[in-house]
Amino acid sequence: MIVYKSEAEIEMMRKSSQIVARILSELKQMIRPGLETRELDLYAESRARELGAIPAFKGYRGYPASLCVSINEEIVHGIPSSRRLKEGDIVSLDFGVVYEGFYGDAALTVPVGKVSEQALRLIEVAEKAFFSGLSELKAGNRLSDVSAAIQKEVEAAGFSVIRAFVGHGIGRSLHEEPQVPNFGLPGHGPKLKKGLTLAIEPMIAAGNWEIEILEDGWTAVTRDRSLSAHYEHTVALTDRGVEILTLDSGNASWLNVGSRANA
Ligand code: MF3
Ligand code: CO
Repeated sequence: MIVYKSEAEIEMMRKSSQIVARILSELKQMIRPGLETRELDLYAESRARELGAIPAFKGYRGYPASLCVSINEEIVHGIPSSRRLKEGDIVSLDFGVVYEGFYGDAALTVPVGKVSEQALRLIEVAEKAFFSGLSELKAGNRLSDVSAAIQKEVEAAGFSVIRAFVGHGIGRSLHEEPQVPNFGLPGHGPKLKKGLTLAIEPMIAAGNWEIEILEDGWTAVTRDRSLSAHYEHTVALTDRGVEILTLDSGNASWLNVGSRANA
């Protein structure tokens, strides 16, 4: 069952989503060669708590951290550790919080210093694919129109779409119906209507789409160890059209308390 949200509920989701957006912006600014990935996790968790939110991933099905940090061939669910970022890496940061009962969830992929031409293009295509999908998110369309648009963008660039992980509805739970695959034929699935809130999250690979899970039980990597990128936002369909709730507006003054970026 899809839980459609009222305007008041979407307003609540704006808050949790803006916390996620702000923290991801701050994490992005921290990215540099030599940084231990667990430093990002510690920052994300303490910053969320400072803003009155609870990290959404910690303890979710036993996940051990607040942030997912996935480097190079790692697709998603990389566990922060003493591993240090190095020049040329690409690093995906995936973060979610719950604030006054509502979830927000977003991800982005960042280059560490100078990276290869292919790596940069992969990052760009993940982002472009998200926006292609979003352009199909309008009342009257069907859900798989979004999926098909994402797949088309990714494959036109010569990259592939990960099949094993999908986007999802979001609200009072991190994962609600419907699932939002990043591939498929258009014209299928539920009709889109106002009140729908989704986390749309293309995960793409430079090589093949097949995956493997590492021995830690979490980290998903491409089977062929080709580079992977991830881009995600929490979005809402309202009377005014589509709104990206986790876009950092930069001007939510209630979020300005004590950030490292503003210090
Ligand atoms: N953005 C991912 C998702 O929506 C993050 C989940 S990580 C987990 O599935 F650790 F919580 F599983
Ligand atoms: Co998600």
